[in-house]
Amino acid sequence: MIYQIYPRSFRDTDGDGIGDINGILEKLDYIESLGVNTVWINPMILSNQEDNGYDVISYTEVDPLFGSEADGERLIRALKDRGMRIIFDFPLNHTSDQHPWFQEALKGPKNPYRDYYVWTDGKDNRPYPNNWTAAFGGSAWSRELNSNQYYLHLFKQSMPDVNWDHPPLRKEMAEVLKYWIEKGIDGFRLDAFIYIDVDKDFPEHPEETGPGQDLNENGGNIPYYLSEMNESIKEAGEDVFLVGEATSADAELAQWYTDPENNMVDKIITMQYFPEKEDEKDDAVPGDKQHAPLDLKAFKEVQKAFKAQEDRGGPVLFWTNHDMPRSLHKFASADSEFRDNAAKMMAALLYLQKGIPIIYNGEEIGMKNTAFDDPGNIPDAGVMDFYQEASKAGWDHKKIMRHLNLIARDVSRGIMQWDDSEKVGFTDGLSWTLYNRESKYNVEDQEKDENSILHFYRKLIELKKTALFQKGAYEMLETKDTLYVYRRTLDEKEALVCCNFSEEADTIEIAEEWTSGHIVLENDGNSLEGGRLLLPHMEPPYLSKMNKPSKTVHNDLYL
Ligand code: NOJ
Repeated sequence: MIYQIYPRSFRDTDGDGIGDINGILEKLDYIESLGVNTVWINPMILSNQEDNGYDVISYTEVDPLFGSEADGERLIRALKDRGMRIIFDFPLNHTSDQHPWFQEALKGPKNPYRDYYVWTDGKDNRPYPNNWTAAFGGSAWSRELNSNQYYLHLFKQSMPDVNWDHPPLRKEMAEVLKYWIEKGIDGFRLDAFIYIDVDKDFPEHPEETGPGQDLNENGGNIPYYLSEMNESIKEAGEDVFLVGEATSADAELAQWYTDPENNMVDKIITMQYFPEKEDEKDDAVPGDKQHAPLDLKAFKEVQKAFKAQEDRGGPVLFWTNHDMPRSLHKFASADSEFRDNAAKMMAALLYLQKGIPIIYNGEEIGMKNTAFDDPGNIPDAGVMDFYQEASKAGWDHKKIMRHLNLIARDVSRGIMQWDDSEKVGFTDGLSWTLYNRESKYNVEDQEKDENSILHFYRKLIELKKTALFQKGAYEMLETKDTLYVYRRTLDEKEALVCCNFSEEADTIEIAEEWTSGHIVLENDGNSLEGGRLLLPHMEPPYLSKMNKPSKTVHNDLYL
């Protein structure tokens, strides 16, 4: 089980308002107490910090913002001493324009580093070689001043794409991984790796202008590039865990990427888990910055499709990360009386399925999004354009900000709430970003409350470690859209996980042979009677474990 740490926001020990390695070290007891066995940390290598670490200046130096090389080594060792594993982020699709490779490449077409990046000549006095746009705005091309050549940047002008077609570049990238493996890193999250095979014909986007990423994702050379890399890094260590960020991958692509024959990655992280109710969006305003509720029916279909990953141990299971709003907001407003129950229910729903949970720091205490009051303060790309378009479509400031605060990436990057003191136990300085100061929704208060979300997560993680939830078969039951029910079975053991998304209590029919009418569980006056389970609104799911054939009922699995 993986705990994702956004290091900037986790714990600051030197008072500069930015989280650091010593802060993570300070909180290792807490991290271990959660029961997770792996930590994934967003980039801490030297970066221009225009994209919080994903714009790399040096792949092998720790950014002084976070600490020294020695701090990094201490962190790796400390995690190892606790028997934990550590995953680093590896932004392999692009570097910063400040990276020495790119600085060399700018010296001209004959420079040996020129081919580390993707270049093309300008055409017919057009402003850009083609109509591709970059993910963070503008054209995907920028002209180099000394020649008529343009370099490609599928994300951002200051983040040039590297050229995986060029063997020396591939060799350098493999060396980077070997360096960290030798230092003790157990795995990597391959950032944006689905774009590394660029179509060198640079075809026009069919629309007037359109995302260059669309035309360059999931290219046929990726298995070749990655399997070569994987063969090479074996020299430094076997069994390196690779999880690839494949934002647009559906279940079929997930199968392709994780097929052992293709030797690419062990798991993929997709953004396709969470289909929204598109018909509730306003056509006059760009859909990607509008919030709409999760489409539960479609969500179930997606989960069923990802069941294909079962024979590979299941997919990674997550509700959110640093690029998505906090999970709570997918189902319950933070002001709602159901905040705790929703947080618990969602955790049980996903994490007891087959696969590897990734818990994003703060999720385990039910943290909510931070709220910006001005679009200008949200660093995320496209925010101002959205503001203007939404204003034109008649949305008022309040409505626009409500949507942005439910969608923008920055709202989930808020400061970890350790306590409810003035600076929430994060820093002595001025925090680099917003935070919520809340009693109850902080680590200190939840430690004291046995019924807290935090304690629920701990129990859930323990339960997840049992053979039933590690290896048991998984079957989703056909229910109405507002219910999400599945069972896990292993030999004589069985568990039923029932989640209710509606505002009303509900019931489901359970097959006779599963329960034989036994009362499986009683809690808060809700019980299973004669094969019917009463589900209170947003309550944690009811779990039952039966030892067939005696059908003894163990209530100890109730969380
Ligand atoms: C995905 C990362 O998660 C995101 O934060 C980053 O901005 C892009 N890749 C570009 O590296």
